Amino acid sequence: MTLLNEVSQPIETANGLPNPLYTDPAVYAEESRRLLLGNWSGIAFEGDVPEAGDVYPVELAGIPLIVVRGRDAQVRVFENVCRHRGMVLVQEPGKARQGMRCPYHSWTYDLNGRLVATPLVGGPDANHHPCIDKPELGLLEVPSHTYLGVVYANVSGNAAPFEERHSKLMKRWQEFNQPLFFDGSASEFTLDVACNWKLAVENYCEAYHLPWIHPDLNSYSRIEDHYNIVEPGAYSGQGTTVFNPTRSEDGRMLDTFTDLREAWWNGQAEYIVLYPNVLAGVHRDHIFAMLLLPQGVDHTIERVGIFYASERAASEDFADLRTVNARQWRLVFDEDIQVVEGMQRGRKAPHFDGGRFSPAMDAATHCFHAWVADSLGEADILR
Ligand code: FES
Ligand SMILES: [Fe+2]
Repeated sequence: MTLLNEVSQPIETANGLPNPLYTDPAVYAEESRRLLLGNWSGIAFEGDVPEAGDVYPVELAGIPLIVVRGRDAQVRVFENVCRHRGMVLVQEPGKARQGMRCPYHSWTYDLNGRLVATPLVGGPDANHHPCIDKPELGLLEVPSHTYLGVVYANVSGNAAPFEERHSKLMKRWQEFNQPLFFDGSASEFTLDVACNWKLAVENYCEAYHLPWIHPDLNSYSRIEDHYNIVEPGAYSGQGTTVFNPTRSEDGRMLDTFTDLREAWWNGQAEYIVLYPNVLAGVHRDHIFAMLLLPQGVDHTIERVGIFYASERAASEDFADLRTVNARQWRLVFDEDIQVVEGMQRGRKAPHFDGGRFSPAMDAATHCFHAWVADSLGEADILR
């Protein structure tokens, strides 16, 4: 078995991560704890909770969470568990203007997570009991942060602040730190893939596969138009110097973000994985994010959301262009399914050593593998 420390060797000689990280449920459990719960992971889109009182339940590696938009417009994340007997509190996305009421015994929490009602807790005639101290029994809040349309959560509570962890990317993409506009379900889709979540990261990082897996995309944004993006320990991906914005037959185009540098007008676009599980892409007229929501060692839900630069671009007048844009991205991500699922099947080959990297083309993938190996340390994880 390839040891994790071989992964961190220089790319010329390194092997990739070993098979158990893709196939062994016990390894997956430990890896999830360290990588997904121990870092800032993407769990939802801001557009899932557009208005005060909106609640959105989601699981991250089996941990039940709720995303809540408060009256102060702030997004908060809580563990989705009632402090009474541990029932999952919010079952479905929806409105909770009157607070979140547990379906079991009706304990009710406000949008800030405070416990506000405990009906009959003191017996058939009493809604209070001296042993049940409401201020002590609020929902358990999870540190959260929103960035470029995505709600991130750090379940362990031990990660460095988001702005610190991703300071370099926030600087690189500071021009895109602007209001984003959503149009609801039309710019969102979900894919269900039979692979380990890391394979989706690895495939997204690199442009090497373009000529064979995305021939249409490659016909205008060719492999030679791409460059690698590598920031050890934080993110990696690739960029292109050729991006054609969507244009309607009558020549209409989507509004662009304001005050962008010349490069973005010349057609630049960048595709970066914020470790561990958010695949983001920026273009002058839209941003997208794919959340990788692992369902087990070999099963991942991929949620894609697309965000626009102005209210006008997200309005009915431009619905046709947004539909085309979403369809194009869906096509690209559909084309990737065959390879990520194929790599998953390949990982059952018992003597596969994690593979090798092209020093020219796979720098971003190697950067991700090295981060995973480093995060797991000299772990007993493989024993
Ligand atoms: S478990 Fe929620 S009120 Fe009893
Ligand atoms: Fe791809």
